[in-house]
Amino acid sequence: MSQKKIIHVNAFNMNSVGHIHHGMWTHPRDQSHQYNTLDYWINLAKILERGLFDGIFIADIIGYYDVYQGNIDLTLRESIQTPVNDPWLLVSAMAAVTKHLGFGVTATISAETPYTFARKISTLDQLTNGRIGWNIVTGYVDSGARGLGQDGLADHDQRYDRADDFLELSYKLWEGSWEDDAVIADRARRIYTDPAKVHSITHDGPYYRSRGYHMSEPSPQRTPLLFQAGSSGRGQRFAGQHAEGIFINASDPATARASAKKIRQAVADAGRDPHDVKIFVGVAVIPGHTEKEAQEKHAEYLHYASAEGGLAHFSASTGIDFSRYGLDEAIEYGTSNSIQSATQVAQQNQMTRRKLLEQHKLGGRYNTIVGDAAQVADKLEQWIDEGDIDGFNLTRIVVPETYEDFIDIVVPELQNRGRYRTSYTEGALRNKFFGAGNRLPASHGAARWRQRDGSDTSSDQPTHIAA
Ligand SMILES: Cc1cc2nc3c(=O)[nH]c(=O)nc-3n(C[C@H](O)[C@H](O)[C@H](O)COP(=O)(O)O)c2cc1C
Repeated sequence: MSQKKIIHVNAFNMNSVGHIHHGMWTHPRDQSHQYNTLDYWINLAKILERGLFDGIFIADIIGYYDVYQGNIDLTLRESIQTPVNDPWLLVSAMAAVTKHLGFGVTATISAETPYTFARKISTLDQLTNGRIGWNIVTGYVDSGARGLGQDGLADHDQRYDRADDFLELSYKLWEGSWEDDAVIADRARRIYTDPAKVHSITHDGPYYRSRGYHMSEPSPQRTPLLFQAGSSGRGQRFAGQHAEGIFINASDPATARASAKKIRQAVADAGRDPHDVKIFVGVAVIPGHTEKEAQEKHAEYLHYASAEGGLAHFSASTGIDFSRYGLDEAIEYGTSNSIQSATQVAQQNQMTRRKLLEQHKLGGRYNTIVGDAAQVADKLEQWIDEGDIDGFNLTRIVVPETYEDFIDIVVPELQNRGRYRTSYTEGALRNKFFGAGNRLPASHGAARWRQRDGSDTSSDQPTHIAA
């Protein structure tokens, strides 16, 4: 029997009121309406670090959900990820009150410019002492593209092509521009940075051009820990090349296992170790000190949830206005330009509006585990072992109650079973996950832009460093 895997857990969140479990903002104990105050985030960060969470994973959306009923009325009334504030501006405050908690923060390629985005990441990686992760997304709503001045979303696969190019340029800036010992800060010789150790990069890609020096000095991780969440065929190829943390949706451990196999194959195809990625499944957990307490809490939550809000969210994820269909009418799924992986699953299961509403009865369509500590731990272990995954993105149902319950009820049980850390590992976020140092391994494509000997890299050619 191989060694038991430690279960990784991220708090899945968003800088908004409604995130996954729509309608729960009406619950009397829910604090999510405080999302626009620093106290709310500082309090959450402290709670999560007390529970030894790996990190807080902050989703984001550029745009808003206007597919359901062809308008944004329900989106606004139920606060379905609108209003949504910038997730990156939360990080410094949470980092200031924690020492180990990681930050997996979402940024959409089409809304950023690599040259300035690379600096923002380096800044935060320095300020957090290497705790920054980036969830790379390509956008999936037309409203966001229109807001950015485009006619609509670019073609699905082309969005990933652009993302490849964005990453390539970013790697040059993060990995190739400054040598590790460029900054010497020698007062006597009046040399802060040694000019011989800072190199100009050149990039002429299909989507981006850049010339010049990275603006920031090297940060602990240089390249942030890279997360990704798309799982179409093209999405998996992208993940294989770049991602270190991959967020998938799966209805059961067998489905997760099939996705994990494909992802690890894509990673191997890109010349990397298939275990240089951690795979996370989104899950909702409602634990109780007894099974009865958990079941009662679940029933109470259902009273506040909005299945229709969940459906409106899913309309945006698939690009299909489900309000146009009768409850039992067959839905025309077709090829989506939004989240293909989510659309395909609904199509395969021939989901009607009635079935979708039932699936979204807790306001979202994530798997929900309800039970006492042992029952929840059994299920989580089953997902990890049978699903060949590494951890979970834990949705918030009632904030901060969901996290506090998990920490007080489930974590001790997992620790007793040797499945959950009892203290944090030192080092940057990457080292905490993989235990192999703060920087990307040499087998990752980004490593080819590293400086070997300070030679001029003002050409577009990789420096090909030996491992
Ligand atoms: C579990 C999961 C979480 C996601 N989270 C976000 C998000 O926070 N923001 C976003 O813009 N896109 C998000 N996406 C969309 C993906 O990043 C990607 O753009 C989309 O899935 C299309 O890729 P695919 O067709 O390869 O799945 C998510 C997708 C999945 C499956």
